[in-house]
Amino acid sequence: MDPTKFRPSSSHDGGVTTTNAGAPVWNDNEALTVGPRGPILLEDYHLIEKVAHFARERIPERVVHARGASAKGFFECTHDVSDLTCADFLRGPGARTPVIVRFSTVIHERGSPETIRDPRGFAVKFYTREGNWDLLGNNFPVFFIRDGIKFPDVIHAFKPNPRSHVQEYWRVFDFLSHHPESLHTFFFLFDDVGVPADYRHMEGFGVNTYTFVNKAGKASYVKFHWKPTCGVRCIRTDEEAALVGGRNHSHATQDLYDSIAAGSFPEWQLLVQVMDPDTEDQYDFDPLDDTKTWPEDLLPLRPVGRLVLDRNVDNFFNENEQLAFGPGLVVPGIYYSDDKMLQCRVFAYADTQRYRLGPNYLMLPVNAPRCAHHNNHYDGAMNFMHRDEEGEGHHQEAQRLPAARGEVPVLGRRQAGAVRPEVRRLAGAPKGQPGAEIDLDRPALEVRRVAGEEDRHPPQRQAKHVKIYGVRPSSPLLIQRAITRASGRTPEID
Ligand code: HEM
Repeated sequence: MDPTKFRPSSSHDGGVTTTNAGAPVWNDNEALTVGPRGPILLEDYHLIEKVAHFARERIPERVVHARGASAKGFFECTHDVSDLTCADFLRGPGARTPVIVRFSTVIHERGSPETIRDPRGFAVKFYTREGNWDLLGNNFPVFFIRDGIKFPDVIHAFKPNPRSHVQEYWRVFDFLSHHPESLHTFFFLFDDVGVPADYRHMEGFGVNTYTFVNKAGKASYVKFHWKPTCGVRCIRTDEEAALVGGRNHSHATQDLYDSIAAGSFPEWQLLVQVMDPDTEDQYDFDPLDDTKTWPEDLLPLRPVGRLVLDRNVDNFFNENEQLAFGPGLVVPGIYYSDDKMLQCRVFAYADTQRYRLGPNYLMLPVNAPRCAHHNNHYDGAMNFMHRDEEGEGHHQEAQRLPAARGEVPVLGRRQAGAVRPEVRRLAGAPKGQPGAEIDLDRPALEVRRVAGEEDRHPPQRQAKHVKIYGVRPSSPLLIQRAITRASGRTPEID
């Protein structure tokens, strides 16, 4: 079922004001009272619904990156990168993929000014034909820490003092001075790029090291870079920042919205630095350490495509507040690496979003894939996906899905194995799943034990019981095989 098909499109569609249940409302201007003044009656259902709904308008804001703005557009592959990745959306020059992008500040609240000295988030959701790929980067190429276990600590140092709720830089410097690996990012933050002029004139970096996997299963480490075609612009002095932010504390959101509305579409080029994992020991830095950049003279930038934002969001709440990105969302041809920050991030985002938006957050229209998706997850709060399409062979079909890609690495062991030699070495049947024969042998022994040698008809007896459950024609095949194995006789189940 198309999840958006039966969605009420807008509260302004109908000619009359109604309750959420669709019934016309007698008066949307005055509460129902006993006399001309009051008291107000509890039976004014519409009043209660209206005020109660208002009281619940806010959802928890993101614990970081709460302040942000988004826009929609497309990504176009401009260069052949098939030697690096089998990702379908990078199948060749000209391939276009719809995207939504969210820019953000990191530390302060949902309504905070956009002129503060703070890294900026640059998150892109690619709605590819093989699922959504999220690339969540920042405007600096490096991060303060290299191990996700320190992430809450660095964020707490930057967040307002828990006593006063005022950001105090001594707390920041206290943290940074104890973590020398943070110096690199510190230099970006306190340089001129520390306060970007707006979101359109910002670079973006994947920061963490990802892996491309090509059709042959060859893995390459990659770093992603976004370069704005209109150049980089920053607010150079704190005085200017105070002026811009003082006049309009949403200046970057407005700049993005106005320029797209005026037809001046922001554009970025996507480039990658590529490293063969077999050569990583040649470098004097760890390529999986996100506090380090990769020297561009040794590992040059290679163009991949372009990103164009040509549509504003239709509704800020739906397409910004309910928008959920996560580094865990990859597609065949793109995988994680053993970068310890990235490993932690793969878990953290889906975890926070299950809390922030609920377990079915990926069903929200802005987060849902645009391709067919199919699994065995059921129900949960706010589920609005129909699960009535299940039919014969449902489970078998779910098992078969990855084969649609033939020998191309897809998520799971094959793609993980391409990335890590040790996983590749160990690849094969995972322990505990040794193959169907043992699964048949055990019940066979059991049937003989229970039935005893004198019982000559165990198969027919089981077949009879199975039949009572009204199974469909193809279902008993496995049961039939198991019983046959147990007794040497093939039962009849029709
Ligand atoms: C282990 C380290 C990290 C953890 C645990 C972490 C955690 C989080 C969390 C919980 C959110 C809020 C997500 C939401 O509520 O939807 C978030 C947002 C974000 N993070 Fe991280 N983060 C980490 C490191 C990084 C790094 C290194 C970058 C930059 C490459 C980054 C970029 C972003 C961006 C861009 C967003 C905003 C996404 C949006 O616009 O909705 N994070 N992070």
